[in-house]
Amino acid sequence: MIDLRSDTVTKPTAGMLAAMAAAEVGDEQMRADPTTNELQRRMAELLGHEAALLLPTATMANQAALRALTRPGCKVVAEERTHVLIYEWGGPAIHSGLVMQGLVAEAGRLTPEQIEEVDELGPGGVVVLENTHRSSGGRVWPLDEFRAAVEAARSRGAAVHLDGARLFNASVAAGVEPSAWSALADTVTICFSKGLGCPFGAILAGSAETIERAWEGKFLFGGALRQSGIAAAAMLYALDHHVARLADDHARARRLAEGIGIDAATAETNFVAIPDEPNLRERLREHGVGVGGLRPGWLRAVTHLDLGDEEIEQAIERMQAVLSVHA
Ligand SMILES: Cc1ncc(COP(=O)(O)O)c(C=O)c1O
Repeated sequence: MIDLRSDTVTKPTAGMLAAMAAAEVGDEQMRADPTTNELQRRMAELLGHEAALLLPTATMANQAALRALTRPGCKVVAEERTHVLIYEWGGPAIHSGLVMQGLVAEAGRLTPEQIEEVDELGPGGVVVLENTHRSSGGRVWPLDEFRAAVEAARSRGAAVHLDGARLFNASVAAGVEPSAWSALADTVTICFSKGLGCPFGAILAGSAETIERAWEGKFLFGGALRQSGIAAAAMLYALDHHVARLADDHARARRLAEGIGIDAATAETNFVAIPDEPNLRERLREHGVGVGGLRPGWLRAVTHLDLGDEEIEQAIERMQAVLSVHA
């Protein structure tokens, strides 16, 4: 099967496995894992923040951030289909006692006016912005719109968390440094097990004080590790080898869109949003193509490290035989 369900299905490459095997390790809970410390140092610098923390997953990074930035009873406001609101099992309410409020927004992008109008948003609350925005099809936040949303949140006294699970995709697509977005937010999550091809691992960056508070969350959630350098080595390898190549995934997404009759301009990064049809997912699977769910009424085909041009051409051929939208 040509697996376009998600960019999380990738397997570690030989080079990545070799880096993991050669990793220098220590006890992370004693803050004595040298490879983890090096990764955290590099990521803090890259993201324009004082400190960074390794976490096993982006979900845990998001939840540790919300816990560090907020007070129980306050609000978390985000576009209604952001990952923190609908795919993290009520974590903001359960772990941090937050009132969760979702707002409908085009392409996942909250406007300053929307943020200004939210009632009961203030100090102790947080606005979460997701870039790229998963459920709108991997869309990129233009920097000026992002800045305006951050300023609106600040004007309300709320903190800002950037769920940048796929921030490197946004960066490569827009030709803008990741720190241009991340330095504006109080905290930022980066996921390494999506387009970057790691088996697991995420980074949370923020001020030294916030990251100290996030350490508490890391322990509380059971995410404090021991020889975490094995993961950190894979992540460092991905930083050096798998970031620039995201441009290939984006080009392949555009080619796939075009090949199946979808406007290629809608594939801003590595997602192709496909209008759903009755039993479409099952019919594509029968023809040897796996696609995933995007949002109600829409499926997604996601390009990634384990798929080359040849697989994309094969996928187009197989999908054309099934889809009614193709030209
Ligand atoms: C935007 C976004 N944030 C966070 C996550 C959570 O990542 P993880 O599976 O590493 O917890 C995902 C996963 O799909 C995501 O798409």
